[in-house]
Amino acid sequence: MGFSVSLDELLGDEVRRDPYPYYARLHELGEAAALPPTAPYAAVVHGYDAAHRVLRDPVFRVLDADHLDRSGLRWRDHPVIRTLQASMFNAPPDEHARLRQLFGQALTARRVAALEPAILRIADGLLDGLAEAGADGRPVDFMAAFALPLPSAVVGELLGVPQRDRDWFPSRVRAFDAVLEIGPRSFREIRAANAAAEELTGYFAALVAARRAEPRDDLVSALVRIRDEQPDQLTEAELSANLIVMYNAGFRTTANLFGNGLALLTARPAALAALRADPSLAPAYVEEILRYEPPVHFAVRYAAEDTEIAGVTVAKGRSVLVLTGAANRDPRRFTAPDSFDPSRRDNRHLAFSGGPHYCLGAALGRAEGRLVLPRLLDRFPGLTLAEAPGERRELMLRGHDRLPVHVVAPHTDRSVRTVRVDLAEPS
Ligand code: HEM
Repeated sequence: MGFSVSLDELLGDEVRRDPYPYYARLHELGEAAALPPTAPYAAVVHGYDAAHRVLRDPVFRVLDADHLDRSGLRWRDHPVIRTLQASMFNAPPDEHARLRQLFGQALTARRVAALEPAILRIADGLLDGLAEAGADGRPVDFMAAFALPLPSAVVGELLGVPQRDRDWFPSRVRAFDAVLEIGPRSFREIRAANAAAEELTGYFAALVAARRAEPRDDLVSALVRIRDEQPDQLTEAELSANLIVMYNAGFRTTANLFGNGLALLTARPAALAALRADPSLAPAYVEEILRYEPPVHFAVRYAAEDTEIAGVTVAKGRSVLVLTGAANRDPRRFTAPDSFDPSRRDNRHLAFSGGPHYCLGAALGRAEGRLVLPRLLDRFPGLTLAEAPGERRELMLRGHDRLPVHVVAPHTDRSVRTVRVDLAEPS
């Protein structure tokens, strides 16, 4: 076969820029592949069925405090890791169920439906801003002017973060999130992530104190009440850690759904025109964008017992790298996986993961995509990219840093350009 699996290759520039050819080669090897004993993971799991099994099988756990303790890391010295460990993302099963139940109240289908008017109001305000900034064909950065502020405002609305504070978050969230990326982090990045975790913890401690003094109809007030009435249900550290990760989890993921989606659609004018003509297609488009260009490409789990996955042995305590981004392109599961096809049936991708840690905000992320994409296309019939999208390098929170667009046609002969793009429509 001439191809052995190398983590170095996965972490190298070429694969980070475009991981799909590498994923296609992995699929030729089966559903999972062993890594050398010196690698930080026992295996990569890239097949759809195997990835789905790891995410659901109780033998495979998220990297909880016990696991980190056994690995000998001095993780308690790092505020960013302490925050992640106190959150539901890395909680062992019992604590996880308790935290998920408490925080899940905010994200039920009913609560998400009640947020829809707020999502549309926020979107319309930002679309006005885009129209103004891009008047006369001036290029405007879609990420900064729309894709990032929209989910930040929505999750702010949900939690009860006042509007005046929301611009403060993006740089802290970005610094915090750097530790989630696969591969070694520099000392500077870790220091910045720790500083961001401390600032975010301080922010939410102050918000909790404010809501304790004067409750409102928001999630922070509801959780403060639970914390005060049933202190055994939620510690103060869990309260602030979960508010932080919820803000973070709801923010750049959804922003990248918009950015990745817009880049995909502008490169496929026929698909874009079909959605513009029939906005009821939006839910299927959102699913296909998430399958084809997911904002999150991987999850990590460790084996609580000796086990195996797709024929690969995994010793107790070793972890596996679950490449959900590759599973979404598994030819055994999806017909023509490298084609963007919003009409595909049974599109149960793994962009929101699976099993007990399945994204708690999936209904909200989907609602934002379904409501906002048609609104955007309807508002700007002449929407085009102003330049080729910049490269993406992250596998966690994968998206474009900038995405300059024209919301109205610049003063050039656009008819020639449109013909060229139409001829070059990718799959
Ligand atoms: C398109 C948007 C989104 C994507 C692609 C996404 C993706 C994911 C993924 C892949 C996970 C699981 C990680 C794992 O298995 O280890 C996850 C978990 C989570 N997400 Fe999302 N997410 C999105 C939007 C949101 C939103 C809007 C919120 C809330 C406001 C949210 C809150 C959470 C939370 C709290 C968890 C942790 C669940 C747990 O550990 O039980 N997400 N998300």
